[in-house]
Amino acid sequence: MARRNILTKEEPALYKKCRPVTDFNPRLHQLLDDMRETLSQENGVGLAAPQVGVLRRAVIVLETNVPEGEEEYLIELVNPEIVESSGEQYGAEGCLSVPDEYGMVRRPMNVKVRAQDRNGNFFKVEGTGLTARCFCHEIDHLEGIIFTSKCERMLTREEIESGELEEE
Ligand code: NI
Repeated sequence: MARRNILTKEEPALYKKCRPVTDFNPRLHQLLDDMRETLSQENGVGLAAPQVGVLRRAVIVLETNVPEGEEEYLIELVNPEIVESSGEQYGAEGCLSVPDEYGMVRRPMNVKVRAQDRNGNFFKVEGTGLTARCFCHEIDHLEGIIFTSKCERMLTREEIESGELEEE
């Protein structure tokens, strides 16, 4: 596994629509392994392939809603699609590609995603709260959308310093 460089918001690649993954080969596995390594080093909660310069539809999301005593784990989603969503949450969001900036974004409280795993098998997964927010944020990256374009307002320096904020 190797850490990859994370592109920041000046890079045009972050605004392009990504193509589906068609080959579930060792190259994809390497990409996903490297994304895991990169995310864990950055302490983020989610990462999309375009953030490391690969314009393919693959993301990883940290499932943080786990029972006490159990470890958080990463979900790999290849060619993900939101198939159901409900409720609403309004909260602060950040992105590893937009360092040190956070903004208030409205997202569904619950989402169900259909995706493929690294071997091409289809599955469905549900997320709530931060996990739902993260599914939406990462899937937006695959469309070339950065959270700042959906933001109702950016957080002030003081708000950033007083809150516990996550980067996706
Ligand atoms: Ni992001």
